[in-house]
Amino acid sequence: MTQQMADIRKEYRRGHLLEDEVGPDPFALFADWLEQAKATGLVEPNAMTLATVSGEGHPSARMMLLKSFDTQGFEFYTNYTGRKAGELAANPWAAMTFWWPSLERQVRIEGVTGKVSAAESDDYYNSRPKGSRLGAWVSHQSSIIPNRSVLEARHAELTTEYADREPERPPFWGGYRLTPVTIEFWQGGVHRLHDRLRYRREDGGAWIIERLSP
Ligand SMILES: Cc1cc2nc3c(=O)[nH]c(=O)nc-3n(C[C@H](O)[C@H](O)[C@H](O)COP(=O)(O)O)c2cc1C
Repeated sequence: MTQQMADIRKEYRRGHLLEDEVGPDPFALFADWLEQAKATGLVEPNAMTLATVSGEGHPSARMMLLKSFDTQGFEFYTNYTGRKAGELAANPWAAMTFWWPSLERQVRIEGVTGKVSAAESDDYYNSRPKGSRLGAWVSHQSSIIPNRSVLEARHAELTTEYADREPERPPFWGGYRLTPVTIEFWQGGVHRLHDRLRYRREDGGAWIIERLSP
């Protein structure tokens, strides 16, 4: 049976995104939008879709949490042996998409990924709750497992083993940084005339701003 969604229709009315309202720095604008998303009480405003491409050219996408960003790039943490890690090893290009519904805003970021330093991964790993730190040891991400019990049993074993000490970061777990070449800011508009301003990094490192048709 075909399910129709044509009746789900919303007009975007919250605002505009005009050239004279934005500065030359896309990271500053991203910071501003993320703060506003937090302020609206959105659950996990740092959640985004991360798209990667396999060596055969097949795309895949999954939700991830952005853990930090600065002018060097956007960081996320994961297992270094799972599906996305294999795809990033074959092709370091990736894309992130944020959607903040209450603000009617989307941000699309594209660029090249690389692993962050071991020291940075250690710092973030050590900031996590102990249960999650042990969970990182348990999961061989994206591999097929027979049932849930194998995870819980291994976690329980490690909880006992590490009752009086702190686990080290697994060598197969850590961060990636996506260094952007484009960052596009999208603000929903009336009659589907949305605003799209794309920052594109030129070879010299300067950002140029281009308006895209909705
Ligand atoms: C909101 C949300 C946030 C997530 N954040 C992360 C994350 O930061 N790191 C991670 O490895 N997986 C995260 N996941 C799980 C991923 O979506 C995915 O299942 C996992 O990373 C395995 O992906 P892969 O098989 O493509 O490597 C998150 C899932 C959701 C729904």
